[in-house]
Amino acid sequence: MAAMKRRTVKLLTFFVLFIFLTSFLLNYSHTVVTPTWFPKQMVIEFSENLKKLITYSHRPCTCARCIGERKVSSWFDERFNWSVQPLLTAQNALLEEDTYSWWLRLQREKQPSNLNDTIKELFQVVPGNMDPLLEKKSVGCRRCAVVGNSGNLKESWYGPQIDSHDFVLRMNKAPTVGFEADVGSKTTHHLVYPESFRDLAENVSMILVPFKTLDLQWVISAVTTGTITHTYVPVPKKIKVQKNKILIYHPAFIKYVFDSWLKGHGRYPSTGILSVIFSLHICDEVDLYGFGADSKGNWHHYWENNPSAGAFRKTGVHDGDFESNVTATLESINKIRIFKGR
Ligand SMILES: *[C@@H]1O[C@H](CO)[C@@H](O)[C@H](O)[C@H]1NC(C)=O
Ligand SMILES: *[C@@H]1O[C@H](CO)[C@@H](O)[C@H](O)[C@H]1NC(C)=O
Ligand SMILES: *[C@@H]1O[C@H](CO)[C@@H](O)[C@H](O)[C@H]1NC(C)=O
Ligand SMILES: *[C@@H]1O[C@H](CO)[C@@H](O)[C@H](O)[C@H]1NC(C)=O
Repeated sequence: MAAMKRRTVKLLTFFVLFIFLTSFLLNYSHTVVTPTWFPKQMVIEFSENLKKLITYSHRPCTCARCIGERKVSSWFDERFNWSVQPLLTAQNALLEEDTYSWWLRLQREKQPSNLNDTIKELFQVVPGNMDPLLEKKSVGCRRCAVVGNSGNLKESWYGPQIDSHDFVLRMNKAPTVGFEADVGSKTTHHLVYPESFRDLAENVSMILVPFKTLDLQWVISAVTTGTITHTYVPVPKKIKVQKNKILIYHPAFIKYVFDSWLKGHGRYPSTGILSVIFSLHICDEVDLYGFGADSKGNWHHYWENNPSAGAFRKTGVHDGDFESNVTATLESINKIRIFKGR
């Protein structure tokens, strides 16, 4: 927020200087030439563009189409809210009462530790500020691939296309080794929760999605003492992720996805839809791979050889159909592209 204000101030200063110089030119140049329309036209055009930069987009964005653009779709404008922060930081960690009580019910945590204390301890171990990668300093076009785990990636040969994106987000148990031709080899961010953790390459940022207080305690434990070994299933005692590569998905953002985007469908959002909405907030263009069933209607993971392993779809926890409708609608209004594989 502060960075954005600074940028806006910078832009405004530039704008004022520009007007000043132009009027200076207008006053002193008509003795030589007589520019009747030119500078004025330029000022109008310039201020139009400036207005576009400031109001249409959270960050200056140079893509042909930027996700954050308003007035493209009222369906989108009703749901999308720039002000909701995707990542938990030391500055935005205080949860509102209703958010906190909603979040506590997600996995029905029995005796949660004090959240304030846990967060305080957490940010003594991992950086409590925003991932510098997520802060966009210069004007540009950030292209992101969000790679789900669907079996429709098998023999899709999407690998090189996926790797060509600036950010490649993956989730849960997804492997790349051995599947590069179809899923690519690049990962910039990997979304996990303790029970879905897998070993990550050194330069990958881990985004922990906390569904309970214990998940935050697990992060602390997994990079320090290794005392937590079990949640509702066994979880890794220690993880090799560098502490400065650990980011925390904001619990209030989970609630935002649930309220604004899922309209309360399912018990809580899946990691898949959480990744998609997250990407809408940090990227200018989003391409989805590996979401949904394969062409035969099977729901399974690309690294498994059992096409009927779709039991997870009907767990009652997530509403897969409603979530698919949201991504399909995002595609239908050209906010994202979906590559369906085979
Ligand atoms: C957007 O989110 C902010 C921060 O959570 C909230 O204060 C505001 O009311 C939201 N706006 C809309 C239109 O829902
Ligand atoms: C955290 O601290 C805030 C203010 O200091 C307080 O209002 C809130 O109730 C605390 N939350 C918890 C879960 O202890
Ligand atoms: C991460 O490291 C791997 C292996 O060292 C390298 O091939 C890859 O390009 C790196 N990725 C990024 C995003 O820096
Ligand atoms: C999403 O669901 C609504 C209501 O059932 C339906 O009208 C719409 O066509 C669906 N959108 C897509 C893209 O499937």
